Order: sequence, then C-alpha cells, then structure tokens
Amino acid sequence: MMHTQPPGLYEAALPEDWPQPEALGFGQILGPYLVHAQHCAESGWHAPSVSARAALPVPMASAGLQYGFSVFEGLKAYRDASDRIHLFRPRDHARRLQHSAQRLVMPEPTEELFMTLCQLAVQVHARYVPPHGRGSLYLRPTLYAEEDALGFRPASRHRLAVAVTPCSDPVLRHNRLWAETELIRAAPGGIGAAKTGGNYAAGIAGQQRARQKGYDDVIWLDALTHRELAEAGTMNVFVQIGNEVLTPPLDGTILPGITRDSVLRLLRTEGVPVSEHRISLDELAAAGMAGQLGTAFGVGTAARLTMIDEISDGSTAIRFRDTGLATRLYDKLKQVQEGATHALREWRVAV
Ligand code: COI
Repeated sequence: MMHTQPPGLYEAALPEDWPQPEALGFGQILGPYLVHAQHCAESGWHAPSVSARAALPVPMASAGLQYGFSVFEGLKAYRDASDRIHLFRPRDHARRLQHSAQRLVMPEPTEELFMTLCQLAVQVHARYVPPHGRGSLYLRPTLYAEEDALGFRPASRHRLAVAVTPCSDPVLRHNRLWAETELIRAAPGGIGAAKTGGNYAAGIAGQQRARQKGYDDVIWLDALTHRELAEAGTMNVFVQIGNEVLTPPLDGTILPGITRDSVLRLLRTEGVPVSEHRISLDELAAAGMAGQLGTAFGVGTAARLTMIDEISDGSTAIRFRDTGLATRLYDKLKQVQEGATHALREWRVAV
C-alpha cells in the first residue's frame, strides 16, 4: 500500500501536559493526522494517504458542505491487558457505511479500503490509544463529496477520511429524557437509517428544547403518531417490561446501531427474552401502573450505555426501575470490547 508520510511526525511523544485518560472526555482532542483516499468517477478509488489534519481542506462549494452529501461511522480501538490494540467490529461499521453511502448516491468504499484506512489511522496514532481499561481511540471515518461545484447532482469526486480522537472510558450515566411531540428526527421513506450529518442536524433543536426544560436529552418519537419510541438522543433505546427487553425495529427510521446489535446479542446469549417491537408511551405508562416497568437505557458507540431514569411528555412521567440489567450489560460490553473475556472475540480485529 502506498501512502505519504508527513516527515518526522509519527514518533513525536505525547505533550508533557497530556491529560489523564479520565480527563480526555469525548471528541475534545483530535489526532494530528487524517488517513484518507479519494474517489474519482473516472478512475475509482485512489491509494490511501496520510496528511497532517490541517492540510486537508474541504472545498466550501462542495456538495459535502452545501447539500450534506456526507456519511460517517464511529468506531473504537481498545488496548487489551497485554497492550495489544484491537478495533471493535470494524467490518460491521464498513458495511453500515456502504448502506449509508448507497442511500445518498455516493460511491461505496470496499470493506478492504475501510479496513486499511482504519488500521492505518490507529497505527499512526498508536500512542494516543489510552491504557487498557481507561478509554479508547474513537475513529470517525467520513465519506464526503468534495468536488468544488454547486450543481445538485451526485458529485464526481469524493473522499473517505478517518479522523481520530482519544477519549475516556464513558461513565455509566443516568438520564431523564423529554419526549418530543412536535419535532421529529426521521420519517418513513427518509434517511433516518443512514448515518449522515443531516439526521444529527435534524436532532439538535430537540436536544436543546429538552435541556431548556431541565432534561438531559430528548427521546424521539415516531413521525406519524408521536407516541412510539424511536431513538434516545443519539442512541438506540431499550426498555424492560416484565421479563422481556424491547427495542424499536429497524423500520428505516432507526439507525442500525452496532452497539444496538451487540446488546441484542449479549441479551440473547444470556437467555433474556428480547423483541424488536414498537413501544408506545401509553404502553409504558400502563406497564408502570401495573408495576411491570424495569430498566430502560440508550446505547451507542460513544457513550456505550446510558441509563434512562425517566421519560416525560409534560403530562405523564414514566419512571424506570434499576433492575441491575443495564449495569450488567455495560460491564459485559466493556469486557468484550477490551478483550477481558474470550466471549465474542470474533468482534475484535487486531491492528
Ligand atoms: C456514536 O455514538 O458513535 C455517535 O456517532 C454519536 C455521536 C453524537 C457522538
């Protein structure tokens, strides 16, 4: 594989005032390089390159900036107890990026190109991967249209670039969520299942409205009835009713989260009955009245798992009970991701 190496940069030590992993947070500090490959309509994918991050501008007139022709992934690399670095489920992320690209009529990167860029992004940033158990390197592969032209049509030049950010191991938070009954995140036939900036842009006002009302985040409802759970902020949502755990089905409005899929697998492995099923606020309120409501939680790559203590739409407050399930899942997932167990080791790919 050919790539250009910025002179003398890879071996630089971390700055002396580098924060402890617990103080890194998420997305605050970006790695110094971008690993990237260009796609031209005439010639296909070009060889990967490594550049200093600041050296790769995005043309202002590109459809990536103008029309939101941009899809991305978020995946993590962890150190195991022997200090070896692994990516968590990178091939699943590659396939999801292909689906997102297809939906926005963008060139689909091959799984191998995605793997090569992610591996290289970790290699050139290896010293930024926090120690075992104390965090991860989050990778943000992004495919965007970069042709400098304003016409509304599929672009003839795109780039897949991987930025990285070292981050703390997420703490298990408890959130209260505001059920948004006016604004929507996604509608049937739309782009809700694609991981594209437009869905996050659609969600920011709802997040702010929830915060203004004193809640931690928004819970999105379906676009048609405004009564069924869709997503919890930027996470997939799970609720426990009686012995069963439910999560909304992938009906085209829900992001097919890799963490969602991991949690479904962990639950099934444990023998917990799970169902991908619509969940209405009314059903939750009735289950609460009957003493049947257990735990609720949101899951995603950045946060891993966040407990949901309450959902309110202003007239009804639905309160969940901590049955210990969410903590158990959080711990199991962390162990699998960090290679602290042999279970599901096929999800980890060595760098
Ligand atoms: C992730 O969890 O990976 C996401 O993409 C959500 C983002 C808002 C950090």
